[in-house]
Amino acid sequence: MSSDHADTGRQRQQTIYVAGVGGHRPAVPVAPAGLEQAAQGAMSTEAWAYVAGGAGRESTMDANRAAFEKWRIVPRVLRDVEKRDLSVELFGRRLPSPLLLCPIGVLEMVHREADLAVAKAAAALQVPYIFSNQASVPMETCAAAMGDAPHWFQLYWSRSNELVASLVKRAEACGCSAIVLTLDTTMLGWRPRDLDLGSLPFIKGQGIAQYTSDPVFRRELNENALGTTRSTSDAKLPLNLLAIATALAQKANYPGGLLKNLASGDPRAAVRRFLMTYSRPSLQWDDLKFLRQQTKLPILLKGVLHPDDARKAIESGIDGLVVSNHGGRQIDGEIASLDALPAVAEAVNGKIPVLFDSGVRGGADVFKALALGATAVCLGRPYVYGLAVAGQRGVEEVIGNVLAEFDLTLGLAGCTGVAEVESGSVVRA
Ligand code: FNR
Repeated sequence: MSSDHADTGRQRQQTIYVAGVGGHRPAVPVAPAGLEQAAQGAMSTEAWAYVAGGAGRESTMDANRAAFEKWRIVPRVLRDVEKRDLSVELFGRRLPSPLLLCPIGVLEMVHREADLAVAKAAAALQVPYIFSNQASVPMETCAAAMGDAPHWFQLYWSRSNELVASLVKRAEACGCSAIVLTLDTTMLGWRPRDLDLGSLPFIKGQGIAQYTSDPVFRRELNENALGTTRSTSDAKLPLNLLAIATALAQKANYPGGLLKNLASGDPRAAVRRFLMTYSRPSLQWDDLKFLRQQTKLPILLKGVLHPDDARKAIESGIDGLVVSNHGGRQIDGEIASLDALPAVAEAVNGKIPVLFDSGVRGGADVFKALALGATAVCLGRPYVYGLAVAGQRGVEEVIGNVLAEFDLTLGLAGCTGVAEVESGSVVRA
């Protein structure tokens, strides 16, 4: 797959159709519904619940998709679209396309190679990968696998400012070019699918690799001075086979692996410490000054949906926004991310980049989001589904398919570049 994305639509079609003549099918289904179905088949019940699930009745997830259906693309004709340039500039760096990969945690539930497979796929296509704070692989390992390819770091603001500072320094040191502070998950949303299974991956020590690889977290491991209220970690685990399995999983998931950690109390302490320290519901605008002092990297706020918050972010010296409702995982009945986009983009008025996620399933969705004011668009669940079905190759194919459809949609709509996609490119259905 070419990484400059020139004519990527026709190239991808050609690759697939030529392989088809030889009897080969793509490694992952191209149609979004087929991809989802294949992924469900490849994942455990718990993993599927965690990835595919949303908050409450999941009406926000439905709204995210319905919002895309409310807009239709209006093509223009006879405009010479032979050559198309998909590139955009973001924070002084030219990217081959307006597509990035969302931060998505706990990928070890989905595939053995987890974040590392995604990092390699993203690098192969020069699509920036936003490392999750809840990753299964330390950011340094993924960064090393990506070389010069762009990568960012997503931060959850824990109760320890020292840990926040340490994570940000590590992100700088491993070449991340932006920090994305996620604001919509200061507490986990109410997620019935996980609750019905009684399944929270972090309790097994999954999705906490950024913490267990952090010197400040390791040092703080056995301190208990955070003054937190009673949390999940304090609840007594029943002594039965499942509890023993959980304890073994904690040891296996801790750096060094099961054998080395058999006699160690650190894996359990790490889970307890994580559950105590994770997230800070008391976070306020004023706290952003602390983050600004820690880094010169661009800081983006993820989860901004109200135009007043967008204005406030600009006043606070923030460098970019991600309009997102976390894929409908946090508040049931929340505004669809795409419905929030135009007002946020208007409030920002081009002063800082406005990224978008939640509900993007194909290249035409990317086009619609750009038309409604996004500077760039982040792909979420679909790449996880690709990972589940075919590892790194699956992620590469999913990204390649989205880019190909975007390139073709761009040209077929009469545009030769991203800048030509504007509000008149779509109408309300
Ligand atoms: C997420 N998302 C997320 N966001 C974040 O800032 N940090 C994280 O660690 C995670 N983890 C995570 C896990 C899983 C399983 C999902 C599905 C999502 C949210 C993610 O970045 C993005 O906002 C949504 O995935 C967008 O919605 P769609 O398009 O994937 O439905």
